[in-house]
Amino acid sequence: MSAISVGLLGFGTVGKGVYETINKHQGRLQAILGKQVKVSAILVKNVDKHDLPDKDVLLTDDFQKIIELPKLDVVIDAIVGKEPGYTYLRQAVTRGCHVITANKEMFAHHGSELKTLAKEHNVSLGFEATVGGGIPIIQTLKQLLNANKIERIEGILNGTSNFILTSMREEKLSFETALKIAQEKGYAEADPENDIEGYDAFYKAVVLSELVFGKTPEWEKSTRKGITDISIEQINIASSLGLRFKHVASLEKEKNEVRCTVKPVLVGESHPLYRVEGVQNAVSIDADIVGNISLQGPGAGMFPTASAIVEDLIHLGTNDFPAVFEEDEAEGIEGGLPVWALL
Ligand code: NDP
Ligand code: HSE
Repeated sequence: MSAISVGLLGFGTVGKGVYETINKHQGRLQAILGKQVKVSAILVKNVDKHDLPDKDVLLTDDFQKIIELPKLDVVIDAIVGKEPGYTYLRQAVTRGCHVITANKEMFAHHGSELKTLAKEHNVSLGFEATVGGGIPIIQTLKQLLNANKIERIEGILNGTSNFILTSMREEKLSFETALKIAQEKGYAEADPENDIEGYDAFYKAVVLSELVFGKTPEWEKSTRKGITDISIEQINIASSLGLRFKHVASLEKEKNEVRCTVKPVLVGESHPLYRVEGVQNAVSIDADIVGNISLQGPGAGMFPTASAIVEDLIHLGTNDFPAVFEEDEAEGIEGGLPVWALL
């Protein structure tokens, strides 16, 4: 029985989490998908930095060597920034590979083009890991949207900022120390300005907006503010008044425009986000039939993010393209392209 062949782009916090999760839970994956999952190749920037125990895996800094592998079913994107991720995923989709991405900066800018391209090429595009770390927010919204109209979404979408604010208040750590710990724990972006200046939460809000409202928020009319202006003195005063700073993203459709606001706010004890602490994210969804749904969970880190990516992998193997993964006959390769991609 041949395995599902995965090309993994990136071997940092997220890439390593995915690699370890796939290897550790091989038995579970095989039971669900009917096949083993094999990471065939890993893309990194600097090959010398890495020492992979499995010498079977191609470790390379050249994406062309991965995309030209004779068998490649899925490409998982866990690299940084708009480019080269977008170019690589376009190539993967065009070749007929399913793609899964954790790269919200790239997806906020190019998600709609990739969705169209994936449809044209009849491949699946998973992006659960782009928002909310391990919280299954994307699948939940898709499920809700089957019946509901969603009116508003609000939540904490950046784990690093929430971790810093909580550590400053609870542990009395300085901003710099709290950020350093968030980096050591693998929560922060490669460039942490993305976290602390609110860009990361804004990109996530864009991804949600496109999914829920079918459009990007008006970038110019939106607010994006980070947490860098909040001092420990302000946090202490707020605390003494029973208030906490939370970095909150909200999305609302007004007429034909989507408004996005990302900024720190003070919340009191009765607010649903008051007790969302540390690296936790939380999302509150107002939908017209069901009412309010709230989700909370680990918003960043190695295994929560790997969980979201592997969920996408299983989803595409069991829901989107089950035949590809179940039947050996269905996955014949001709000239590098899976036969089913040509049908
Ligand atoms: P890291 O900085 O830990 O790792 C990035 C990896 O990508 C490294 O292995 C690096 O190579 C490789 N890489 C970066 N740029 C390139 C490039 N141009 N070409 C080839 N390889 C490249 O980042 P994370 O693992 O934390 O994040 C990866 C992605 O996942 C990002 O897009 C991030 O926004 C997203 N994400 C992160 C989460 C988290 O909790 N950390 C959660 C959800 C999403 P090398 O090792 O050689 O430097
Ligand atoms: N840097 C991001 C955060 C990672 O802290 O939320 C998860 O997307």
